[in-house]
Amino acid sequence: MRRDVDTLHQDLLQTRLQDISRGFDAVSDPLGRAMRDAVLSSGKRFRGMLLLLAADASGGVDETMVDAAAAIEMVHAASLIFDDMPCMDNAALRRGQPATHVAHGESRALLAGIALITEAMAVLATARGTDGQTRAQLVRILTRALGPQGLCAGQDLDLHADKSQAGIEREQDLKTGVLFVAGLEMLAVVKDFDAEEKAQMIAFGRQLGRVFQSYDDLLDVIGDRETLGKDPGRDAAAPGPRRGLLAIADLQQVSRHYQASRAQLDAMLRSKRLQAPEIAALLERVLPSAVSA
Ligand code: IPE
Ligand code: IPE
Ligand code: MG
Ligand code: MG
Repeated sequence: MRRDVDTLHQDLLQTRLQDISRGFDAVSDPLGRAMRDAVLSSGKRFRGMLLLLAADASGGVDETMVDAAAAIEMVHAASLIFDDMPCMDNAALRRGQPATHVAHGESRALLAGIALITEAMAVLATARGTDGQTRAQLVRILTRALGPQGLCAGQDLDLHADKSQAGIEREQDLKTGVLFVAGLEMLAVVKDFDAEEKAQMIAFGRQLGRVFQSYDDLLDVIGDRETLGKDPGRDAAAPGPRRGLLAIADLQQVSRHYQASRAQLDAMLRSKRLQAPEIAALLERVLPSAVSA
């Protein structure tokens, strides 16, 4: 049963991303190919899937939510293009394929990332099945998540700031949490959640960002190339200060911290809007409650 729901949502999302991608090469074929490769490659689609499952639990998946999920996955793909570039984490492998700058060159990777973000905004500005006011709110939510109070600031801190316990959580919120929060805020707007439900979504998204990034930092040490589809060890080997939680704690401490914050996340699933077994199952698949490290 769960497999069916997952497959249905995966297909909805992938089909929408394919449709959107069709226009990418209208002027420059190679630019369009770089964009398409980045967005259609085999990521987990965790952000988009979470959004669709949460929509399902709140009355059903509609075209507006599919567009919101597609836009989130597009900006996420753009953030990965930038994150892998030599000036950032200098990573050559992403989703089991050469990173965009390796496959298509640095200048085109940069342009593809920018163009994916602008196209994502266009998807929201023309989102199907809703009105102009809602579309404007969706655009505003996603731009805020990406800008100087969001992901760009988080990446800047990750790359340049000295690491501290308080600083790390702030970085996790900014570079990773913001996209989860933005997705759930978009859900709250489209499904007309009340103020308390909206606050619960924001709190859950922030906690999810911390758990997700902590696990990603752990995997960078304990994961393998084959399963991750990216080279482990980048947090230590990337240019500049060491990235991630392992910059300030050892493996056992990070593992304990991850499992404790993962348990807190589970408790937040009791919120009425998140009480779906499919959501819990997705979380357990991507973020296992127990790890051995
Ligand atoms: C990787 O995100 C970047 C982080 C925020 C840690 P994902 O692990 O969701 O990457 P894909 O989409 O599955 O490739
Ligand atoms: C990625 O963080 C965060 C963003 C792309 C915004 P990481 O650098 O830790 O992610 P991976 O490990 O390269 O996927
Ligand atoms: Mg990084
Ligand atoms: Mg990286």
